[in-house]
Amino acid sequence: MRLLSYLILAVTLITELTSCKPVKKEKEEAKETMMKFEDKHTYAKPQEAVITHLDWTANVDFETKIITATAVYNIKTAESASKIIFDTKDSLNIIAVRVDGKVAKYEIGATDEFLGAPLTVELAKEAKQVEIDYKTNPTAAAVQWLSPQQTANKTTPFLFTQSQAILARSWFPIQDGPGIRFTYEAEVTVPKGMIALMSAENPTEKNETGIYSFSMKQPVPAYLMALTIGDVDYRKLGAHTGIYAESTLMGKAAYEFAEMEDMLVAAEKLYGKYQWEVYDMIILPPSFPFGGMENPRLTFATPTIIAGDRSLTALVAHELAHSWSGNLVTNATWDDFWLNEGFTVYFERRIMESLYGKNYAEMLAQLGYQDLLETVDDYMENNQPEDTHLKLNLDGRNPDDGMSDIAYEKGYFFLRLVENTVGREKFDVFLKDYFQGNAFKVMTTEAFIIHLKANLLDSATYTSIGADQWIYGEGLPDNLPTPNSNKFELVNAEIEAWKNGTIAKKLETTDWSSHEWLHFIRTLPSGLSFDKMKELDTTFRFTKSGNTEVLSAWFQHTIKNNYVPANQVMKDFLVSVGRRKFLTPTYTALKESGKLSMAKEIYKEARPNYHSVSQQTMDELLGF
Ligand code: BES
Ligand code: ZN
Repeated sequence: MRLLSYLILAVTLITELTSCKPVKKEKEEAKETMMKFEDKHTYAKPQEAVITHLDWTANVDFETKIITATAVYNIKTAESASKIIFDTKDSLNIIAVRVDGKVAKYEIGATDEFLGAPLTVELAKEAKQVEIDYKTNPTAAAVQWLSPQQTANKTTPFLFTQSQAILARSWFPIQDGPGIRFTYEAEVTVPKGMIALMSAENPTEKNETGIYSFSMKQPVPAYLMALTIGDVDYRKLGAHTGIYAESTLMGKAAYEFAEMEDMLVAAEKLYGKYQWEVYDMIILPPSFPFGGMENPRLTFATPTIIAGDRSLTALVAHELAHSWSGNLVTNATWDDFWLNEGFTVYFERRIMESLYGKNYAEMLAQLGYQDLLETVDDYMENNQPEDTHLKLNLDGRNPDDGMSDIAYEKGYFFLRLVENTVGREKFDVFLKDYFQGNAFKVMTTEAFIIHLKANLLDSATYTSIGADQWIYGEGLPDNLPTPNSNKFELVNAEIEAWKNGTIAKKLETTDWSSHEWLHFIRTLPSGLSFDKMKELDTTFRFTKSGNTEVLSAWFQHTIKNNYVPANQVMKDFLVSVGRRKFLTPTYTALKESGKLSMAKEIYKEARPNYHSVSQQTMDELLGF
């Protein structure tokens, strides 16, 4: 008899129930709850037919911006299965479909704005393999094709994919839900002088043939399948870590991320063995829409975290932490996104604490706290209180809408509250077991709650900390932990002194890290005169800062206070950097301070440099 993994779980459960060994009630309950989830963002019906392995052979043409590929899937089917459904998007051009080697009937259904279109393939009884020949569309949302001018070396084109949340389907037909895992192998042909890399076992050197082979032996969901192609070199940093970067960036990158191996060691010490063998990172061109993306074995990162002083490496800790929270234990649906990101922020700060101490981690938490308060206020003002729930309801919406500080920071502070409640020692044991016990599985919010109650919090404690209110309620409960760092109090004192007449030059700022500077800029009063802005800028050289976090925070003031000397730098920044975290507040500030036409003018020039996810957000923001 042939069974789906879901059915296997059910059978295991029944076997356990009927055997004489005592089974914990919570365990049964948790398993049942874990099986029950419906992912509204995939057309796939994995209970009927599900993929288990992908063999992907692809040819990448930079002239036409088309990937021509064959995807061969091993599948598992329920006995009654008569079809298998894949997700597709952006007119993925299906050329032929075969089932177990024979030409098969298929149908492409109606297109939904966010979900794309289902590809339904008719299955013969006991079908084992589906083979799909297809071509991508040059506008495939996940893929960004870059000209040499958009890279650091300026000599060779570049390509990268960004599949999370539901864009994988734009570059391969796939059952695109975080709850569906598969192993994969790939062979990718690229133009001479380039190397292809994936979220898999990777080559470290270019070869003459332009053909590269990949293997991902651990099952991963589609959103973690990634491809990047360019002229990059590899440098080993430690026993399990290394960096890919364009040659002109390699020196700086290797310096900036020299502590990657230490982070990995610290992470393993906290929550158990790293399960993916190798942890590498690639520095992508600045149009990459995110800070980082946790593609297994190969984090994709923006070059805007290269500050020259290792001050923005918390992002590396974050993506590394996803190797446990997210990549091992995966949110079942995008409504459970906080399980990926909230846990990861918690883990990230613990890694940073073990490397740089409590004061350092506490500054990060405080900056996160500030972001959180602002985000909650924004949602409340915009009449979207449901979007402040940890457990979201993204039915009928773009799952990208769930990517806010709620999942990250409200999630973090909830876990911090749990830690405070039971003590760190107990919490660490709990987390380690959680990652180990649920490795390569999915997790729903409901299953997590059961797990939490069964293993850490008794019902009374669970109720007394208002956990349900945190998870299913709006806003921020009264018992929100407040981070405190005396470091920021010192910064506040300097701001007070400046407000009271001490000149900027006399402020005590020696040894400030970029976090203190960021707090300083964020805390500056609004409505500063040109002279005051100029005093700050001449003294602290904010407009010339090489730290993109500092720079983007400074733009808030330069825009709102009409500090014209920063305009050119801001424009150059917006044209070259595609990281949405910086674009959104900057364009918003322009829009809200009566400079919409300037914003649109800059955007017109910048838009072709952005990846589709940044384009989509800015189009909406600026009414393009
Ligand atoms: N997985 C996310 C990026 C993401 C989330 C992409 C949802 C698409 C949809 C990644 O781990 C992340 O959180 N990146 C942050 C880094 C930060 C919190 C340190 C980013 O890009 O800003
Ligand atoms: Zn993340």
